[in-house]
Amino acid sequence: MKRSVFLKTIFVLATILLCIIFLYPIISYLLYREQKIVKVSFHPNERLGKVNFKKGVYLIKSNHNWYALSAHCTHLGCIVNFDEKTEKFHCPCHGSVFDISGKRVAGPANRPLTRLPLRFMKNGDIIVIKRD
Ligand code: FES
Repeated sequence: MKRSVFLKTIFVLATILLCIIFLYPIISYLLYREQKIVKVSFHPNERLGKVNFKKGVYLIKSNHNWYALSAHCTHLGCIVNFDEKTEKFHCPCHGSVFDISGKRVAGPANRPLTRLPLRFMKNGDIIVIKRD
């Protein structure tokens, strides 16, 4: 390799590296989106059934335990619908299907529905915490 070709190659690589070093923080800043923490409250007076839906969250009673699932499909984020007959969640966008525990049964989604943390309040409210 000639010396001039070698120096040009080093110069190009150094320029690319400097661009990455200087552009990364700028692009990160421009794409940064603050995550909001949303608390969805289910009150016992709402006559909670086995599967309850509110603000993008499913609150489900299984035996004597509660768990919460995000209603956002893990494929591209559409809101899934619960079918009481089959006890499955169906995504209207591309047909993914999840069982009542959130496990993927069919369709293009490759992950289960996201489980969300719960808080049980002294007044009987169940608070589901989700990130938007
Ligand atoms: S968004 Fe649900 S299957 Fe595509």
